[in-house]
Amino acid sequence: MSRDSLIGVYDSGVGGLSVLRAIREALPHEPLLYVADTAHVPYGDKTQAFVLRRAYALADYFVSRQAKAMVVACNTATAAAIAPLRQRHPDLIIIGVEPAIKPAAHLTHSGVVGVFATTGTLASPKFATLVQREAPEVHIVLHPCPEWVRLVEQGKLSGPDVDAAVRTPVAALRAAGADVLVLGCTHFPFLRDAIQAAAGPDVPLLETGAPVARWLKHQLHQHGLLRTDGAGTLRLETTGHAPTLAALASQLLAPGLDVGETPARWR
Ligand code: DGL
Repeated sequence: MSRDSLIGVYDSGVGGLSVLRAIREALPHEPLLYVADTAHVPYGDKTQAFVLRRAYALADYFVSRQAKAMVVACNTATAAAIAPLRQRHPDLIIIGVEPAIKPAAHLTHSGVVGVFATTGTLASPKFATLVQREAPEVHIVLHPCPEWVRLVEQGKLSGPDVDAAVRTPVAALRAAGADVLVLGCTHFPFLRDAIQAAAGPDVPLLETGAPVARWLKHQLHQHGLLRTDGAGTLRLETTGHAPTLAALASQLLAPGLDVGETPARWR
């Protein structure tokens, strides 16, 4: 493993591209490999044991590619797997994502924070611990939104279907008094415009791509593994259907990217 080794980033599908976008901005010189575990999307309604098995498979794949770091660009997988992953690969820098509860607790005036995430994240002991630690005084209201994940996986980011899917959950949390909304799933930033329109212009919507990218940069620097010159590269892979990922990635990230399938052994 060296400074020139790659950084592996993965999610159940294309949601993690919202994190990858921030990583590309903050770390423009790095070789990046993104894996969409599309054969197994969504993670949100799977057992923690299943999500952990997939995390092990993806981590082993990145290690087989001599990765210097791995980003679990998925709140659900972070909640289910981050601690055992670190035990399994103690020499690998492993970065997870979790809902932005701490900044939300600082921002709220009403004392009520709304969180949209998957069922898996919201039911996890890790989420309960996060809330207890970072927002003990705040009333947290929750809404699982599996439909939002499906919409993003279909490339539906606006229009009547999206507005209809967003309206009721947002209205429910606003009616419960939430004046800050946490996008606790990496798919949801792609629906930001629709969520903002339903919530009203003054409601902060918090996501974690940028802070995660900054933390990754800090960790690479600390370990002497940060690349500071040369062009960055990006390859996208899927455990599902490559042309589908290529079409989605050109919509969500940029056109003309290098897209292929993850080797069968890791699917
Ligand atoms: N994007 C994921 C997350 O941040 C998972 C969505 C899913 O697969 O259900 O939780």
